[in-house]
Amino acid sequence: MQTLIVTGGAGFIGSNFVRYMLNKYPDYRIVVLDALTYAGNLDNLADVWKNPNFSFFKGDINDAALVDNLAQNADAIVNFAAESHNDRAILNPQAAVQSNFNGVWTLLEAARKFKHERFHHISTDEVYGTTDGIFREGDPLEPNQPYSAAKAGGELMVRAYHQTFGLPTIVTRGSNTFGPYHYPEKIIPLFITNLIDDQPVPVYGDGMQVRDWMYVLDHCRGIDIALHHGTPGEVYNVGGDNDRPNMEIVTLLLKFLNKPESLIRHVKDRPGHDRRYSLDVSKMGGLGYRPEKERFEERLKETVDWYVANEAWWRKIKEKQAEYQAFMNQWYAERK
Ligand code: NAD
Ligand code: TYD
Repeated sequence: MQTLIVTGGAGFIGSNFVRYMLNKYPDYRIVVLDALTYAGNLDNLADVWKNPNFSFFKGDINDAALVDNLAQNADAIVNFAAESHNDRAILNPQAAVQSNFNGVWTLLEAARKFKHERFHHISTDEVYGTTDGIFREGDPLEPNQPYSAAKAGGELMVRAYHQTFGLPTIVTRGSNTFGPYHYPEKIIPLFITNLIDDQPVPVYGDGMQVRDWMYVLDHCRGIDIALHHGTPGEVYNVGGDNDRPNMEIVTLLLKFLNKPESLIRHVKDRPGHDRRYSLDVSKMGGLGYRPEKERFEERLKETVDWYVANEAWWRKIKEKQAEYQAFMNQWYAERK
């Protein structure tokens, strides 16, 4: 592979992945296609902008003509583009269907037409639904929310393109990811930035929902390994092997920022909220993947430090982006 199209490369995980790939594979060309929705941000790519192996195209993955134009000169697509926030997809399911399902199909068509070597789709552990046990790749998909249902639809179309047309696909189902450039609507960056400003943090319900947390570089490494060494047609769980209730995350953030527990507010729960995710990553282990779970607290502290050092990055969003403010006002007004 020489030329990779990375869709959604101006978002959180996509931009970290672009940086990781340009450093690791100096002979690869990375072409980012991103619609620059509210979550897409060219500031996330500022340090790679001048790299001669990097190029950027603003556009929607549903734009078949543009996708074809880029795909005809590429060897593979890695698809991160999606509406990624559960809460927004509750308010506006249509946008999630449009990007997380329809858009995937447009990309698959191009990959088939131009006989790509790989189509790597970034999925999520949320397609499984909720569990008291542990998710394995063969488990049924029982998504409970518009976001995860649209993601499940997208990855089932990926499966169909492998089975029907022999497209060499890979699906990775990632768990909750954290690190630098994470848009401040998700729990970790929202809570860090609220706490820096001594603002309360809105915990849904009792806060005992469990997520498997993984540092963004672990996620990037997992995708790299599956992209290069995965078996076409297969699905791989990429997780942190690191289950934590939300309240534990909140307690750590309070500790790192030296803030009082009085800033915790228990608010009305998210409808359809999955109680617990937990991921078996042994299949990825067979490809040599191992998350650095023993470094979780250190990585969380580094992430807190990144937000402290990069106030300009998140204040531009929180204080100046109208779409951010409109969503936050509407969503959290309903949680009181
Ligand atoms: P993000 O919201 O930060 O970034 C999404 C990016 O996709 C943005 O740059 C946005 O502009 C772009 N985009 C959205 N719709 C588009 C469209 N129709 N055409 C072109 N570009 C479009 O999201 P993220 O957290 O970086 O997530 C990236 C991917 O990883 C998503 O597919 C998500 O489902 C998946 N994922 C995320 C997590 C997580 O914890 N953040 C965990 C598992 C899987
Ligand atoms: P989130 O970061 O939205 O990721 P996901 O829904 O994909 O897991 O949420 C992580 C957990 O944090 C989830 O259980 C919901 C909870 N949460 C809150 O308690 N308060 C909040 O304001 C947010 C955004 C999330």
